[in-house]
Amino acid sequence: MPQTPQQYITQNQPQFLDQLQQFLRFPSISAQPVHQPDIQACAQWLIDHFIALGLQTQLIQTKGHPIVSAQTNFPTNRKVIIYGHYDVQPEDPIDQWQTPPFEPTIKNGFLYARGASDDKGQLFAHIKAVEALLKTNTSLPCNVHFLIEGEEESTGNSLEHYITQNASQLACDAVLISDTTMFNETTPAVTYALRGLAGFEVTVKGPNRDLHSGAFGGAVANPALILSHILSQCITTTGKILIPGFYDSVLPLSANELQTVYQLPFDEAQFAQSIGIPQTSGESEFPVIARIGHRPTFEVNGMFSGYTGPGGKTIIPASATAKITMRLVPDQDWNTIAQLADNYIRSLAPDTVHLEISPHFGANPILIDTHHPIMQTARNALRLAFDHTPVFIREGGSIPVVNTFAQTLKVPVVLIGLGLASDNIHSPNENFKIENFIKGAQASAQFLTNL
Ligand code: BES
Ligand code: MN
Ligand code: MN
Repeated sequence: MPQTPQQYITQNQPQFLDQLQQFLRFPSISAQPVHQPDIQACAQWLIDHFIALGLQTQLIQTKGHPIVSAQTNFPTNRKVIIYGHYDVQPEDPIDQWQTPPFEPTIKNGFLYARGASDDKGQLFAHIKAVEALLKTNTSLPCNVHFLIEGEEESTGNSLEHYITQNASQLACDAVLISDTTMFNETTPAVTYALRGLAGFEVTVKGPNRDLHSGAFGGAVANPALILSHILSQCITTTGKILIPGFYDSVLPLSANELQTVYQLPFDEAQFAQSIGIPQTSGESEFPVIARIGHRPTFEVNGMFSGYTGPGGKTIIPASATAKITMRLVPDQDWNTIAQLADNYIRSLAPDTVHLEISPHFGANPILIDTHHPIMQTARNALRLAFDHTPVFIREGGSIPVVNTFAQTLKVPVVLIGLGLASDNIHSPNENFKIENFIKGAQASAQFLTNL
């Protein structure tokens, strides 16, 4: 009896894990220039891996980090692009990791390493699925084209540029991505919406140097206080964003969709407990799932000003900075929202300080049509692999290039998340459930065969 792709995947699990660990050893942190050589080495490792599988490969150099391209060469015009990213977030705070971030460690059925879930592990499930199809001579109804970037985590746009410049070569029938999460530990999901992002840094500049707060205090505006005051006027304590025009293009949540959200099983107390907060916050008229998936937000990601060392220091700081990002939902446009926020924040600054706002960055939100037949193909594949009925969900994170795929290539984007909320992506002790890796590979092989 010839081996099935499913059997191949099960039997080769130890070897797959060994290879994934090699992939995870590269500290391919796209945001940090010192890791430039690691980024290159990681991309080259992928190229070598694809060459060994017999795919046609290309290492595409860009203004930023290289793109890895690898495709099968079957005599068919049909094609599926599989997207992923080999770059990862910085590992800090390093002292909170129980095992070193770039020394992948297997513990109790989980693989721990930076990038294990976001996105190297999820991407690798698809690479192994294609390997299984090739090694078992399974006839595929389409070619597979891997397009893997190294700038996703640092808002680079080289892949976006590449796609728009090479749209005709990239013509395909669908884009398949695993860079999201399952609905819960047992329920797989097809994600049909991702939030967008708009952001910048705001700096309030006061005196030309830190000043003695006794010798000057009372007559000089304190930048840290001014910045806090400005930020407190951007959002209420119940999550309403006060930037004029911010909600103008937010599509209302249909009663139908809201009902679907209420039908999804969700334990709010358990959610709060799992992240160590006393209770959830935000727009109480929306269920927690909708606050994360369907509603826009305003966040401060980091703030710095004045003296932060041990003990006290009586000064008025010379400046204060906040890193701000807003999560956006359909049909908000990131450029428009960033400009509205910029104008509003400038209008709030008193004449006693100088205000500086960095260049804006962002990505648009996306809403994917769940009625396309390929969505059922994806659900069927997930159901078989995970033995549970998949659900359609919206997710709160952003994958900037998804919009480019959808708009430039005009094809459905199928997001099948293999991650879990407990994977600690972007946090210390990132991990990936090995079972999800294997089931993900099974689902991918099934999906590609059934197209
Ligand atoms: N894989 C995530 C996006 C994600 C996370 C989707 C959780 C769904 C659930 C991706 O790698 C990511 O972190 N994106 C950044 C994009 C940003 C840097 C432009 C994000 O969402 O912050
Ligand atoms: Mn990701
Ligand atoms: Mn990420």
